Amino acid sequence: MKSRFLFTSIAFLLGSFVLFSFTLVQQQKAKEWPTPDKYAKMKNSVKSDAKSIAAGKALWNKYCKSCHGSKGLGDGTKAAGLKTFPGNFASKEFKALPDGAVYYRSFIGRGEMPNYEKSIPDEEDRWHLVNFMRSLSK
Ligand code: HEC
Repeated sequence: MKSRFLFTSIAFLLGSFVLFSFTLVQQQKAKEWPTPDKYAKMKNSVKSDAKSIAAGKALWNKYCKSCHGSKGLGDGTKAAGLKTFPGNFASKEFKALPDGAVYYRSFIGRGEMPNYEKSIPDEEDRWHLVNFMRSLSK
């Protein structure tokens, strides 16, 4: 009796583990995301100082943290429900992105990454956000 219970428990645990790994694999790795010329040529017009990063962080907490997590690791409270991994902003790949590419991905978006052209219309605010995101991969 006892061993059967043990067997069922182990089988259940193994089953849950397999299902859990499956959901992890299901979240797709990012596909290529080329930057159109117009954005690739953009220059950051706001100096990245403590004030700008703080302004960016406030916007981040309001609009972005729920999916990306407080440090941009892709672990926000909504992240598990996404089909696409939101990215890891501490990674070498993210660090290597030019400002214009970060801007393009942030405000134009694609798929599960929303478009923020309307909700964050101010150019200066947008660069504050870029400066904040950059500060995460230093
Ligand atoms: C609803 C969840 C969600 C919210 C809210 C969200 N994002 Fe995203 N974001 C994503 C997903 C999912 C991706 C990956 C999209 C893809 O690769 O197709 C992404 C990708 C990105 C990328 C590109 C990352 C990389 O490694 O290339 C940047 C930059 C970004 N988001 C910035 C922002 C900013 C800035 C905000 C807030 C203004 C924000 N996101 C809000 C889900 C979200």
